Amino acid sequence: MAVLEILKYPDPRLRQVAKPLEQVTDETRKIVESMAETMYAANGCGLAAPQVGIDSRIFVIDAAGEGEPSDLRVFINPEIVKTEGGLTWEEGCLSFPGATEEIRRAERVTVKALDQFGNPFELQADGLLAIAIQHENDHLNGVLMIDKLNALRRRLVSRKVSRALQEEASQS
Ligand code: NI
Repeated sequence: MAVLEILKYPDPRLRQVAKPLEQVTDETRKIVESMAETMYAANGCGLAAPQVGIDSRIFVIDAAGEGEPSDLRVFINPEIVKTEGGLTWEEGCLSFPGATEEIRRAERVTVKALDQFGNPFELQADGLLAIAIQHENDHLNGVLMIDKLNALRRRLVSRKVSRALQEEASQS
């Protein structure tokens, strides 16, 4: 297990469309463990493999509220098969430090995926979990939250991120 480096916008690797896994193996489980560790270390509620430079269709989510027991969920080769409703949610992303933006999403989703043991499952989700599934699934397709914004917001977010990264660099 290891805490991995999280790629930050505008790293071009965040734009790649990730490859499906042919098999879920011990190696996959190691990747999943490291991704979960990385997500928790960064205080995030979701992380997709392309954000740590891994070209695979995997993401992890923990949408438990503060003070609730952790609720790690693993999605391998996920497919959103149904969306319903719509809402606006204030989202952040570990690849966009210092930025949160209101983004329009479906309110409920049904997703099919494999878990870390290769077992298929289907899940209906709403609330933060539904938002996180849509956000992380976008990452697997090289789609980022900034793509959902108008040109002005995109410029502002881009500026916020470069400022946050500069501050980070000057502190280390
Ligand atoms: Ni993200």
